[in-house]
Amino acid sequence: MKTASNTFNVTEIRKDFPILSTRVHGKPLVYLDNAATTLKPKSVIDRIRRYYEKECSNVHRGVHYLSELATKHFEATRGKVKEFINASRTEEIIFTRGTTESINIVAQSYGRKFLRKGDDILISAMEHHSNIVPWQMLCEEKGCVLKVIPINDDGELIWPEFEKLLTPKVKFVSIVYISNSLGTVNPVKKIIAAAHRLKIPVLVDGAQAVNHRAIDVQDLDCDFFAFSGHKLFGPTGVGVLYGKFDLLNSLPPVQGGGDMIASVTFEKTTYNVLPHRLEAGTPHIAGVIGLGAAIDYLNTIGMDAIEKHESELLAYGTKTLKAIPKLRLIGTAKEKAAILAFVLPNIHPHDMGTLVDQDGIAIRTGHHCTMPLMLRFNVPATSRASLSFYNTKKELDELAASIKRAQEIFS
Ligand code: ALA
Repeated sequence: MKTASNTFNVTEIRKDFPILSTRVHGKPLVYLDNAATTLKPKSVIDRIRRYYEKECSNVHRGVHYLSELATKHFEATRGKVKEFINASRTEEIIFTRGTTESINIVAQSYGRKFLRKGDDILISAMEHHSNIVPWQMLCEEKGCVLKVIPINDDGELIWPEFEKLLTPKVKFVSIVYISNSLGTVNPVKKIIAAAHRLKIPVLVDGAQAVNHRAIDVQDLDCDFFAFSGHKLFGPTGVGVLYGKFDLLNSLPPVQGGGDMIASVTFEKTTYNVLPHRLEAGTPHIAGVIGLGAAIDYLNTIGMDAIEKHESELLAYGTKTLKAIPKLRLIGTAKEKAAILAFVLPNIHPHDMGTLVDQDGIAIRTGHHCTMPLMLRFNVPATSRASLSFYNTKKELDELAASIKRAQEIFS
């Protein structure tokens, strides 16, 4: 991807996000819930507005001016996504509603066609529900067996256990790149290489990775990669499924409808070529075009600069939160992205979330759609501050001060 030449300046960057000037309960907003959704720069908001104001039309269906214009911008985003994750062809980029739909498509299409009774499907103990439930549904239907790679107390995969589980019975591996609940960065390239030695395809859930670091799907050599637009500073309701061309081309469609067909009679339907074959119905056109604007925006900053700033924030935030008496960090992997989950004795995370909200601070509390992971750490829930490149050390100081105030109330 393009590397930005200008120097990273967080004060200037913050001006690009209109919502950051919001006041919450009379205090400046401190937005630390970026793993739930990221904020949108003005350029994305303006781009979506422009589509509706000046380009509103359907895609791939009209010969009129507006339809051709909308199609041009819609397909241009496919090219931007291809470049952004370094896919080898634009046909490898399928637009979906988000990570969840992307994973479900693979489970229902690849899984139904290629997996058999008794096959193992391998996931990890830190998966989001969206990378657990679709596979459980498939197991129920096909009689496959879901196997889970365990993790240690720091929230890292236990490699020897992974190696033990990776037998020839495994026919699919689906693994999260960066854990939304712990921040753990999994060694996905190494996992993929190990799986490929046994000719096992691998899907990478990149929902929390794509906004934290540069992604190169060819370098990773993953077979599928899934992510959501709204976690990449773009709109909700749009996402991407990347797949290697030959693999995607072997997949039967999971939804029938407009755009995915070549010809239809009542006797027989033939299907369109990739990528349209897997994109039935009118897509989220404004969303896709908005996602393109988000990628343009990120390219002006550069993912390497973003990763650097966030790793400084993570180091600072870890030190700051660790200094709070009795606070236990959940997720202390050596390889970590900017997510800080914690618990405190005698304060339920929901109370913590409510109290820090009074100080204008947005964090997420609960199980973070990873209920099995909460069981693994023997906690009902955690409080989670998830950072992005527009966050600052000052905001982390404010979070720490607010946590201390909550502690005083509960002491
Ligand atoms: N998966 C998102 C989160 O971690 C919604 O909050």
